[in-house]
Amino acid sequence: MRRTRLLGGFVFGALLSFGIALFAQSTHPSEDFKKYCAKCHGDDGKAQTQRGKSLDARDFTDPDFQKDQTDAQMIEAVTDGKDDMPPFGKKLTKEQIESLVKFDVRGFAPKK
Ligand code: HEC
Repeated sequence: MRRTRLLGGFVFGALLSFGIALFAQSTHPSEDFKKYCAKCHGDDGKAQTQRGKSLDARDFTDPDFQKDQTDAQMIEAVTDGKDDMPPFGKKLTKEQIESLVKFDVRGFAPKK
């Protein structure tokens, strides 16, 4: 009896975190993006913010930008920084950076 209850708790917990993970991925842009990136890249990814314009950040909705870059290149740029793009390797975990690139930056790609 005790064991089944333990198992039930485990399954419930697993389902709950799975649900949260799904939810987190379905909101775009993510909270992390809004918190750390939108200041320059904008909530819409177009970099039309004051800082984005003055630093000349690229438009994430531009198909050429999306084509030019591999995920690995983007992850590296976000981790180590690039020109005026600040490094986030110390502030964010690898998982956060990966998710920011794969879901946020890629999520701005024009729909085909
Ligand atoms: C202080 C302003 C600023 C912030 C904050 C910022 N960026 Fe950038 N980002 C830039 C600029 C400027 C560039 C253009 C750098 C270049 O390619 O010359 C850039 C470029 C990029 C690129 C393209 C890199 C490449 O290889 O050209 C990616 C991807 C990116 N940013 C993602 C992010 C993500 C994700 C965040 C949040 C964790 C973020 N940026 C936060 C200014 C910023």
